[in-house]
Amino acid sequence: MRPSLVILTGAGVSAESGLGTFRDTDGVWSKFDWQKLATPEGFAEDPAAVHGFYNARRQGLARAEPNAAHAALAELEAAWLARGGDFLLVTQNIDDLHDRAGNRALIHMHGELLKARCNACGTVRDCHDDLSIADSCTACGRDGQMRPHVVWFGEMPLGLEQAYGALENATHFAAIGTSGTVWPAAGFAEAAKAAGARTCELSLEAGESGHFFDDTAYGPASRIVPDWAKAMLDEVSA
Ligand code: APR
Repeated sequence: MRPSLVILTGAGVSAESGLGTFRDTDGVWSKFDWQKLATPEGFAEDPAAVHGFYNARRQGLARAEPNAAHAALAELEAAWLARGGDFLLVTQNIDDLHDRAGNRALIHMHGELLKARCNACGTVRDCHDDLSIADSCTACGRDGQMRPHVVWFGEMPLGLEQAYGALENATHFAAIGTSGTVWPAAGFAEAAKAAGARTCELSLEAGESGHFFDDTAYGPASRIVPDWAKAMLDEVSA
């Protein structure tokens, strides 16, 4: 069977790049109300507040750089594919640090901070600057319809068919820097285990899907991910 590696990442992989996690002490949701800022209802009620929240995160992202964990995952993709394996990285993160590090077989299941979407025509475009409800759609021309291309609570994540297809054929699965509290990503470890994959959790501490992991490694992602990636390559090269 071809070695098929599926990796799920969460906010912990970007923490050392200076981007906040959500549920750690002083996490994003301890400072901001997710119901007002990360739901369709919150956007309908106060779009300016939602745009302000994501504009601030977009400005923060412009100051952030990929860290050693992002670099190791990009190198792992290239080397794994070169050895004839299948590789897919599914991230819950809306930052572009995996993209900038060089990962290409990549799904942003919760959308992308550097993209905007028109509520009227559905067109998605790049968005590196502040976004406001006053912006008009560059495709259909309508005003007042632009929103962040981010999946909010209660909305359908992106790329699930491709993700589950990869999980069904996975020989190896790793969850990196995620608390395993948000579905459907929280169910990926169980799906991989059911497919017979060897599963690994890499984080600061055990998440909520702990009993589905064969192996664990705890510590800062910038230290434990490069070590783990090297061990994976040794295994696939053996
Ligand atoms: N290195 C490795 N892991 C870390 C580090 C680090 N430096 N810092 C924190 N972590 C771990 C934490 O221990 C925790 O398990 O990263 C995880 C972060 O968990 P959350 O803050 O819940 O983030 P995440 O799992 O990505 O949240 C999932 O929830 O709010 C939504 O859409 C949002 O995509 C997000 C989703």
